[in-house]
Amino acid sequence: MKLIIDGSTGFVGTEIVRQALSHPGITSVVGLARRPTLMPHDEGPGMDIRKLKLISVTITRARSVSQEKAREICLDYTMTGLDTISQLSRGSASKPFRFIYTSGAKSERDPGKSPWFMSDYLLLRGEVETRVLNYAKEFGGAVESCVAKPKLVDGETGPIIRALQTVGCYIINMPRVEVSDLAAALLQQVVEGFDSDTLLNEDLIRIGQKSLAD
Ligand SMILES: NC(=O)c1ccc[n+]([C@@H]2O[C@H](COP(=O)([O-])OP(=O)(O)OC[C@H]3O[C@@H](n4cnc5c(N)ncnc54)[C@H](OP(=O)(O)O)[C@@H]3O)[C@@H](O)[C@H]2O)c1
Repeated sequence: MKLIIDGSTGFVGTEIVRQALSHPGITSVVGLARRPTLMPHDEGPGMDIRKLKLISVTITRARSVSQEKAREICLDYTMTGLDTISQLSRGSASKPFRFIYTSGAKSERDPGKSPWFMSDYLLLRGEVETRVLNYAKEFGGAVESCVAKPKLVDGETGPIIRALQTVGCYIINMPRVEVSDLAAALLQQVVEGFDSDTLLNEDLIRIGQKSLAD
């Protein structure tokens, strides 16, 4: 299977690239990013760096964005990417194009609701989730889509940061998922097929831990 990772320079994207390079079911990895993607440093057995191709999509790097720009980045870029790749010819006997949109646990799909915190942004992300899922339904089987909704994603940090995160998560009642489990779950689902159209934090932990243990 060929894999395209949008945002391959990011925290989650970097771990997906790392795991994908040693995944036997993945034959090619294309990383889309606006700056150079770092090569994974901890090459394990079976990691094949030749699978990786990097494509730069833009040179701009805005730190803070208006709501209008956020809408363009979150919604327009996502739907344009999904639509563009869906239209590509993949041969007559090809498997469906599977698309996972990594959103967040707090995103809100119901436009009638108003989250108390970052309302516009969370509603925007929820709108993207709905559009991504509806897009696949309209495509009639050739495209399958899924939304992953992780809570706080944990990676390797120092003991002080980890302690602060633990306290912070406890206070706001925010469970976490390890970045390695999340990446493993996303890869397992995209290669084997989606268990459901929405993967919640507990699903991602369960699938990711099982996949890493197998
Ligand atoms: N980290 C968490 O705790 C967490 C929790 C829940 C959900 N999520 C979701 O998981 C996804 C990945 O998160 P992450 O932590 O890996 O984020 P991240 O480290 O900020 O990475 C985001 C990626 O998207 C790219 N990107 C951002 N804006 C862009 C733009 N305007 N044009 C082109 N590329 C752009 C970044 O490129 P640059 O490297 O050039 O900036 C980077 O590759 C996000 O959708 C996030 O909402 C994350």
